[in-house]
Amino acid sequence: MKTPVRIIIVGMGIRSEIYARESLVSPELFKVVGVVDINPERVRHARELFDIPEENCFSSVEDLVAVPRFADAVINGTMDRIHVQTTVPLLEHGYDVLLEKPFALNCEEADILLSCAQKCGRKVMICHVLRYAPFYRQIHDVIKSGQIGRIMNIRMAEQISYFHESVSYVRGKYASPQICGSGLLLSKSCHDIDLMAWLMSDTVPAAVSSVGSIFQFKPEMAPEGAGTHCLHDCAIEKDCPYSAKLLYLENPQRWANNIWHDSEYDNITEEQKWEYMGRPENLYSRCVYRCGQQIVDHQAVLIQFADGATGTFSLNGGAPASGRHIHVTGTLGEIIGTFEDEYFEVRKIAPSLPGGRSVEKIQVVHAEGGEAHGGGDQAVIRDFIALVRGEETSPCCTTLQDSVVGHRIVFMAEQSREMGGQLMQY
Ligand SMILES: NC(=O)c1ccc[n+]([C@@H]2O[C@H](COP(=O)([O-])OP(=O)(O)OC[C@H]3O[C@@H](n4cnc5c(N)ncnc54)[C@H](O)[C@@H]3O)[C@@H](O)[C@H]2O)c1
Repeated sequence: MKTPVRIIIVGMGIRSEIYARESLVSPELFKVVGVVDINPERVRHARELFDIPEENCFSSVEDLVAVPRFADAVINGTMDRIHVQTTVPLLEHGYDVLLEKPFALNCEEADILLSCAQKCGRKVMICHVLRYAPFYRQIHDVIKSGQIGRIMNIRMAEQISYFHESVSYVRGKYASPQICGSGLLLSKSCHDIDLMAWLMSDTVPAAVSSVGSIFQFKPEMAPEGAGTHCLHDCAIEKDCPYSAKLLYLENPQRWANNIWHDSEYDNITEEQKWEYMGRPENLYSRCVYRCGQQIVDHQAVLIQFADGATGTFSLNGGAPASGRHIHVTGTLGEIIGTFEDEYFEVRKIAPSLPGGRSVEKIQVVHAEGGEAHGGGDQAVIRDFIALVRGEETSPCCTTLQDSVVGHRIVFMAEQSREMGGQLMQY
């Protein structure tokens, strides 16, 4: 029988906990033997959950690498801004790393991490959970089977619901350069651009351009009567779709868990929620039009591939519902689908059929268990364990070297957007 892989958690936040909890479901795969977090509460939580010895709990990566290596690998679930600075010492100390996306903020950081991993001979896998979602896996299989011919165009779009957009990308940590450091395209859609690169892996990107702006979440778009704090000084709070009271206190299923996670309460009560949201300094009660928004709320990206194919990606924050859409056009047919629908259609050119085409509706088939990201969260950690053990991984396993293709597209799109849409050679 194999011994479980020994794992240390660096950054015991929402994401790391999801992956780490798999060790409780499948203890034969891995065991959490250490934790690092700057927040003592998160360290305590991990220590109790995974029965971690006191001497394996740390408040910084520097302290962790000051002691001899006592595990096989690390899950790094810190925020985007510190992914490279926290991962480099781990690799140098001999740990393989499962690193959350985006793995870097720009080309320079990406190069630092790539050369460090190479120099140290360590494995780095990036959490591109959507590659594991059956919807995209099955689309990948259809494309690679050649059924729809050579791909001429791939069109993808991501809609972010108004309540997800506001809680994460306007009021929350992903809008903050100090906490997160990524723009919207990098933090939200590096998954989608990675998927595009993966589905188009018979060729390589050649050029990228992009435009985008803050369309909605700025002071001049505030309705008349809007205040600064939803619970204190807003005359239109009752009619505002972004009312913090309406979204997080009266409809708590709308991403409010992320808010309570940021509070000092472990199991927050209803009364504490109202008190917390009512604090004048509470980030999540701020008027969405007056948050000093610095990241775009919509963006369009155009990609040219080396074989002449084209790709487009459209990202819109503030939609009625979240959704990911895809339309792939090949020389023999096309694929059309929406991730949330759990099926996609494959339409093929067929002159002898009525209408001149065949249409096949392909239902998404889920593996047992696994819910989040279409089962991707659980599959990603299992693949990482296989990678560390030197076993065969799934076709979805995204190493640092795989992930860099999509990340570079995003970095170039951002440069292009800052230069008014100028075409950037990849
Ligand atoms: N793969 C996905 O689908 C997906 C989804 C959401 C978020 N993410 C990414 O996952 C990462 C984590 O997101 P989250 O929501 O879990 O964040 P989080 O804020 O819940 O967790 C981050 C943790 O890191 C800790 N931390 C901060 N600085 C640290 C340091 N210097 N050393 C050690 N620990 C430190 C914080 O105290 C916190 O506990 C982000 O990069 C985010 O973009 C990925």
